[in-house]
Amino acid sequence: MSWFSKRLAEISSLQAYVKPSISSGTLKLDANENLAVDKNFLDKIASQALISVDFREYPIEQLEEIYERFESFLGMDKKYVGVGNGSDQIIEALMSTVAKGRRATVFVPTFSYFMNRCDLHNVKVEAIPLNKEDNSLNKSDFLKAANRSDMVYICSPNNPTGNQFEAGLVLEILESLEDKLVLLDEAYVEFANYSLVSQVRKYNNLIVLRTLSKAFGLAGARVGYLVSNEELAGIFRSNIQSPYPLNSFSIKIASLMLSNGRYILDTVKFIKTERERVYNDLSEMEGLNVYKSDANFIFFESFEMYSNIMQELTKREIQVKMFGNLENYEGCIRVTIGTPKMNNMFLESIHAAIEKK
Ligand SMILES: Cc1ncc(COP(=O)(O)O)c(C=O)c1O
Repeated sequence: MSWFSKRLAEISSLQAYVKPSISSGTLKLDANENLAVDKNFLDKIASQALISVDFREYPIEQLEEIYERFESFLGMDKKYVGVGNGSDQIIEALMSTVAKGRRATVFVPTFSYFMNRCDLHNVKVEAIPLNKEDNSLNKSDFLKAANRSDMVYICSPNNPTGNQFEAGLVLEILESLEDKLVLLDEAYVEFANYSLVSQVRKYNNLIVLRTLSKAFGLAGARVGYLVSNEELAGIFRSNIQSPYPLNSFSIKIASLMLSNGRYILDTVKFIKTERERVYNDLSEMEGLNVYKSDANFIFFESFEMYSNIMQELTKREIQVKMFGNLENYEGCIRVTIGTPKMNNMFLESIHAAIEKK
């Protein structure tokens, strides 16, 4: 067998990452997109982007423009920023270059794509289970494992559980792991209580991952970014993501959306209010264990109601993320918070499923 056939066989034997499923005509509450961003508003931005782009040319000027936008959006010098085709691609780029063959510590459950990339790039993972009562982290177990590894991945707020640890805890982890890489995934941070992005000025071991796919409503444009110390961000831009990490059209849409930050913040506020309402309603239902969320989705256990709920949602063509049993959690479901109308459709189906018990 040739070396490449052997390698391809190895790769195909790894568990593939499960993408959200394709749907047409269904209500999609399974991928944590921002459905409160008005489609007409986005269409106008996209048309404006389209006419301002010359597809004959490589995206050189636009790339400069997006770095400037990130600079004003973050209030931090652009020298700390690198961009990629979604934060997924940034994770892939870091794992295949910097972290390849190393050891990582994670808590579980967490964002499965990270583990998937570890598998692909031969990164050994040690997983510490979250405390099921409140999704908290056992700091000493986590640090013990982290000290045996080269890097940690912290999703903040965490997908799928939705919670964000206290900032003090993450800072303590950063402080005590100064020779390890800390990958802090802030994909949902706009919906949360705090960001540690400015800490990259202090901690050389910190890489913060961010994306425009969630709060900014641009999942289809595939724009993610990292923020890290100047040296690492520079190497990422020049040696890892070189020469054209994004296409002109995505860059232009992203730049326009970044300059509409106020509109995005309004949709975030709106989703946070809806999140509270959905949480309160679900919490009052019999037989569910619902977790508080700092993101744009809610995670809950449904135990023996799981298949009833699945049937009811399927019948009504509503898609949510059905995990089944996950670590110590039973009958897990994650639902994206959408507009009030969408959320009501979801809540009505859960009520109906529970009544059928
Ligand atoms: C925690 C987390 N990180 C990263 C991503 C990937 O986002 P992007 O669309 O920027 O690749 C997701 C998407 O679901 C996510 O949940």
